[in-house]
Amino acid sequence: ASANIGVVGLAVMGSNLARNLASREGNTVAVFNRSPERTRTLTSEHPEAGFVASEGYDDFVASLAKPRTAIIMVQAGKGTDAVISELVARFEPGDIIVDGGNANFHDTIRREGEIAPTGIHFVGTGISGGEEGALNGPSIMPGGSAESYETLGPILASIAAIAEGEPCVTHVGTDGAGHFVKMVHNGIEYADMQLIAEAYDLIRQGTGKSPAEIADIFAEWNTGELESYLIEITAEVLRQTDASTGRPLVDVILDEAGAKGTGAWTVQNALDLGVPTSGIAEAVFARSLSSKRAQREAASDLPGPAQAWTVADGDADAFIEDVRLALYASKIIAYSQGFDEIIAGAEQYGWDVKKGDIAKIWRAGCIIRARFLNRIADAYADDPALVALVVAPYFRDAVAGAQEAWRRVVAIAAQSGIPTPAFSSSLAYYDGLRAQRLPAALIQGQRDFFGAHTYKRIDKEGVFHTLWSGDHSEIETTPSSH
Ligand code: 6PG
Repeated sequence: ASANIGVVGLAVMGSNLARNLASREGNTVAVFNRSPERTRTLTSEHPEAGFVASEGYDDFVASLAKPRTAIIMVQAGKGTDAVISELVARFEPGDIIVDGGNANFHDTIRREGEIAPTGIHFVGTGISGGEEGALNGPSIMPGGSAESYETLGPILASIAAIAEGEPCVTHVGTDGAGHFVKMVHNGIEYADMQLIAEAYDLIRQGTGKSPAEIADIFAEWNTGELESYLIEITAEVLRQTDASTGRPLVDVILDEAGAKGTGAWTVQNALDLGVPTSGIAEAVFARSLSSKRAQREAASDLPGPAQAWTVADGDADAFIEDVRLALYASKIIAYSQGFDEIIAGAEQYGWDVKKGDIAKIWRAGCIIRARFLNRIADAYADDPALVALVVAPYFRDAVAGAQEAWRRVVAIAAQSGIPTPAFSSSLAYYDGLRAQRLPAALIQGQRDFFGAHTYKRIDKEGVFHTLWSGDHSEIETTPSSH
């Protein structure tokens, strides 16, 4: 028993995480993979890592010092359950099983509940940053018991990305909290990506600039308040030329966006929790729409605006600045909605999630890392009970400064037939939130008409119903459960 940490599952993420662990002072890393060839490749390619390799579960478990700690890095789903049961059969009370895959947090809650009686700790943890992050420093979102974090915390801190001197890891909360927060991270990632894609599309169609020219615009944006990993890589993708055709790579990539499901989970759970994460939802649906090839073909000759639109000569810079502001405002809405979901999830599942700490661990390592996460951390530090990010002073000012531009962009998109679901729905959300009076009053009236669902009044306490099929007089009633 010589290793203080083990990794099961040596595909790219697992291999890179194992190498990251091995590169840190004080760690000896045990590795195991179902097919031993992969283990052999890893150990022979990386002798410097000093891996303790095993070709069976018994040897792997025997190679771990107590309390044994093993991180599972296999594709989320059934494979995870299989590995867990092998480990549970061999681990002892006090040992720690970590699931570092993109598991559904409901599965994590179930697994933790099943394993807890054995005295073994089960820790579902979000790990973000892709292959590069796993190797050089990811953002890590562990759930599980506070006790397990005493052992696990320092190990994870040793491999996490560093933001302003602090490792990007925190104990998010018990059982499924880590995977829940990782899920919302991915939902925000979807929204961020969709917003960037809409900005690109508007600039391209509006100004006729080439992808390489738009790459320069994104690179420029990346020096300001939009600075983020996703903006940075967008510039690189747009600058890429396809070797075989000589065309911009973005023009030869099939325009059907894939999805592995975490974005959809974010929206499903938002619906369950009653949280309007409309920006994230539009991003998920935009990917779905892109993949509906037959429908898109059938609809491709439906009419659009009579006049083709381009920005007038000399107005391009102003338009591009409008798009930048619209992107920034919409991004603030997406994060505000994402944090709303975290708050609602924490309340529903009994997790003590520190919003400011989540913002801090997302500042580096993860896919949504961005300069403005500092602002989110500040906002929650200033007011831990903040009801919505968008009303925090910094964000309020940012949106106030952007909203006229945002409206111009959404209007022009609608007039010219350029789909901007995330820009548009974020603006509608913003206007809905700030409205003094919503037409929800009419909906209550309709519900009361057809189903006697009752309504409340603005001028007195109580629950009321109008006798719609009678004399239209109002009666006071007890609340309807319909
Ligand atoms: C991360 C990413 C990572 C992965 C997603 C992509 O945080 O490192 O979010 O988890 O790239 O699974 O999701 P889609 O395949 O659904 O776009």
